[in-house]
Amino acid sequence: MLITPRQDKLNKIVILNPKGGCGKSTLATNLAARYAKDGPIPALMDFDPQGSTTAWLNRRSPDLPAIHGVAAFKKSMQATRSWQLRVPSDTVNILVDSPASVGHDDLRELTRDATSILMPVLPSSMDIHAASRCIADLLLVAKIDRRDKKLAVVANRTRKNTKSFGKLMRFLDSLGIPIIAVLRDSQNFVYAAEKGIGLCEMQPSRVRQDVEEMENIVRWLDAWPERRRAVATAENRQPIARSSILRRPQFGSA
Ligand SMILES: Nc1ncnc2c1ncn2[C@@H]1O[C@H](COP(=O)(O)OP(=O)(O)OP(=O)(O)O)[C@@H](O)[C@H]1O
Ligand SMILES: [Mg+2]
Repeated sequence: MLITPRQDKLNKIVILNPKGGCGKSTLATNLAARYAKDGPIPALMDFDPQGSTTAWLNRRSPDLPAIHGVAAFKKSMQATRSWQLRVPSDTVNILVDSPASVGHDDLRELTRDATSILMPVLPSSMDIHAASRCIADLLLVAKIDRRDKKLAVVANRTRKNTKSFGKLMRFLDSLGIPIIAVLRDSQNFVYAAEKGIGLCEMQPSRVRQDVEEMENIVRWLDAWPERRRAVATAENRQPIARSSILRRPQFGSA
């Protein structure tokens, strides 16, 4: 039976970026496989009508660690307000894969109760620009408070020593948003997607570098209770200046 899991333990990880093809489903599936490996069984909620993560799950061998799939796109997002009702009661980790374009209502809905929000970003100027608009919407529309440190960026298909990566770093630094991992362009991701597996389920010698970066993401995600405590106990927390909320972050203004 599907009932509400215990709220205080729930780790809801939302992966979003309105830019198509930036790596949302890749992150969602690899993280789901990684959480499945250690258990308890994670949930993978697919809000994208393309159904990429649902298809990945269908390709997954039943011999591999289980993942509870929810094809959430089959209902409208408004109808899934009680999304908690749709995962098993002992679920701790929930990965939410989102579609490329998300309206304001859906953005609020998707990010409600999120412990972490991950944004994969490709380091081209156009992608960084789209990410900046998405960050603005998260701050202004979904009312994500930067001081809560829920939001992090994963630079995808890039290398650290490139010009565009430097640009992305400067832009995010100006907003106090961390880049927690840098994933290289690698056929390992494509292979894992085709086979319904995660990188952590591939031959370690082949994927060492990629798995190390994925582990950086998992470490940051798993620190969500500490992040939440740090925010709760922050002394003299000043109300955020209205001007800094309302100013749309602009890529290039860093
Ligand atoms: N680091 C990477 N190296 C190589 N290929 C990658 C990498 N990340 C993603 N890809 C490939 O890029 C394509 C797009 O990735 P993915 O489907 O994860 O993006 P998405 O953001 O979910 O796209 P959409 O917005 O259409 O849902 C896929 O074919 C995926 O296998
Ligand atoms: Mg996708």
